[in-house]
Amino acid sequence: MLNLDKLVINGQKPLMGEVSISGAKNAAVAIIPAALLVEGTCRIENVPNINDVKILMDILTGLGVKVEYEDKNTLVINSQGVNSYKASYEMVKSLRASYYLLGSLLGRFKKAEVAFPGGCDFGFRPIDQHIKGFEALGAKVEIQHGIVNVSADRLIGTQIYLDVVSVGATINLMLAACLCEGTTIIENPAKEPHIVDIANFLNAMGANIKGAGTDSIKIKGVEKLEGNATYTLIPDQIEAGTFMIAAAATRGNVKVKNIIPKHMESLTAKMLEMNITVEEGDDYIRVIGKDKLNKVNIKTLPYPGFPTDLHPQATVLLCLAEGISTMTESVWDSRFQYVDELKRMGAQIKVEGRMALVEGGYNLTGAPIKATDLRAGAALVIAAMAAEGRTEIHNIKYIDRGYENLEEKLRALGADITRLTY
Ligand code: EPU
Repeated sequence: MLNLDKLVINGQKPLMGEVSISGAKNAAVAIIPAALLVEGTCRIENVPNINDVKILMDILTGLGVKVEYEDKNTLVINSQGVNSYKASYEMVKSLRASYYLLGSLLGRFKKAEVAFPGGCDFGFRPIDQHIKGFEALGAKVEIQHGIVNVSADRLIGTQIYLDVVSVGATINLMLAACLCEGTTIIENPAKEPHIVDIANFLNAMGANIKGAGTDSIKIKGVEKLEGNATYTLIPDQIEAGTFMIAAAATRGNVKVKNIIPKHMESLTAKMLEMNITVEEGDDYIRVIGKDKLNKVNIKTLPYPGFPTDLHPQATVLLCLAEGISTMTESVWDSRFQYVDELKRMGAQIKVEGRMALVEGGYNLTGAPIKATDLRAGAALVIAAMAAEGRTEIHNIKYIDRGYENLEEKLRALGADITRLTY
């Protein structure tokens, strides 16, 4: 079964060639529920073919939505027949992003009942800012028996200040507000590239959202989203960063294609500081690895800062740089479960609070290890490719959740990687 699959990697093969990046996972998992707001057909292109998307398609089908694959990366969604505003624990338990159903169903039906998204692979995931925003729009929110109940007679636009910069709350409030009466202003929103993508999608379907990607988002309510439009998702910033890091960690030479180089600036800057060659084109970045890497200090921050979703992968690079580097996690309380796995490969890392002190320059050696979450899994794949000898990575269901054809893409670049299926 899928859950028992493992990856076997024989390391120290430099990655060479070109790789094309898929559509953004975190845009897809918001735009698919956003289609619930549209009373027509949405054609969505460049959808990554990953398990999180398949789970969402099943959830939408369960709500009475017609969802079809036109080809492996194009979805056609028609929400005219949506007949339920309830998503049970069974439906949503395997997908954290299911909280977007709250904003979409609230917008469409003025009520939603969705099982609480619960904990996550690296800690509890609060939704207080989502709730605060729904309440400000006039909704009543109750959590009972593990279900979040949200309902409103009317949703009326207002000004909402987010106390923490939250990607999920920003998107959920855009979803709930686009069919509100009046104007909603979200202050202190997240600015990640996929926030802009979701606003662009909603606007393409008839919404009126301005300022996504800036410090203030203004949403003028409209009566209806009619859809009947095609939208193409942006490339995945985190997949692109994962391949850039993999190229550098294997001392390879890879052209990472179909990306928006501006989205990669925080990573590019750190790579240059480490002495890695990074060449930018209009829609690609070439990374050329070096034998000797400089130590650096990295701190994760909301966009345009260094993405938390590249933290575990970047730590592998720090293991290869001479001297002591630091990785400080400032978005999530805890994201260091992968460190124990890297230590099994010979990495010298000490975690103190939210900071990992990484003493680099020691040889990584292959070992049996397990993915503890999606990005940890990606980091272990990179570590295995940089390491001497054979590594077996278990628990790769996490990797399948969010990377399209990861091992095929790596194999095409020269990696010695095989999936063993049980
Ligand atoms: N937070 C609150 N209250 C809230 C919401 C968030 O305190 O109501 C806190 C969180 O605890 C966290 C911080 O705010 O400390 C940021 O959380 P955010 O809401 O931005 O995270 P998210 O929307 O749940 C998305 C991505 C994550 C990514 C984060 C941060 C999706 C589906 N997930 O999560 O991606 O780490 O933003 O950029 O978009 C991944 O792709 O592997 C992944 C985990």
